[in-house]
Amino acid sequence: MSELEALAREIAHCTRCPLHKGRTRAVPGEGPADAKIMFIGEAPGFHEDQQGIPFVGRSGQLLDKMLAAIGIARKEVYIANIVPWRPPGNRDPSTHESQICLPFIQRQIELVDPDVLVCLGKPSTATLLGVTDGIKKNRGRWFTYKSGERDIRAMPTFHPAFLLRQPSSKRLAWADLQAIKKALTETASA
Ligand code: URA
Repeated sequence: MSELEALAREIAHCTRCPLHKGRTRAVPGEGPADAKIMFIGEAPGFHEDQQGIPFVGRSGQLLDKMLAAIGIARKEVYIANIVPWRPPGNRDPSTHESQICLPFIQRQIELVDPDVLVCLGKPSTATLLGVTDGIKKNRGRWFTYKSGERDIRAMPTFHPAFLLRQPSSKRLAWADLQAIKKALTETASA
C-alpha cells in the first residue's frame, strides 16, 4: 500500500472532528501521486459525499472544463479538500474543523510534492497560506507554501462554485489559469 493509500485509509477512520458523524463517505484527495499540480478546495458537497471523490458535482464539472481550457486533463492533477467530510447543509467548515484536518492535507501536499499548488477559494487560501483578507484581493498572486524543506509556488483563485454564481468573474479566473499554466511549463523546462 502506498503512503497516500495508507493516509486515505487513516482519513476514512478518523473521528477527531465532529464532521465525520454526518458523512456518507470520506472524501480523501484523488489523483496521481506524482502530480505536478495540486488543487485544494474547501469541503465535499452532496455528490462528493455520495461518491467519496472530490469535485464530482457541478463545481467539479466546471473545474474539469477550466483545466481542459489550459490543456490539462483531470487525471493529471491531484485534487483534495481542506476537510475530507461534507459539512452539514454544505456550510463552510469551521476554523476548528479545518485545523483538526490540516495535518491530513499538509501530508498529502508533502507526499505529492507538486510544483504548483492552487487554492480554490477563501477557506483553502486562509488555511494553507494564512491569507485571510479576501480572495478578490489575493487571487492571481503568487505565494509560497512551505512544505517540509521545500517551498512550493501557490496561487489562490476563485472557487468554481463562486464562478457558477458569478460567471462574470470567469475572465479573472482565466487569467489565473494562464499564469498557472505558464508556471508549470517554466518549471517543466527548467
Ligand atoms: N467544493 C469543494 O470545495 N470541494 C469539493 O470536493 C466539491 C465542491
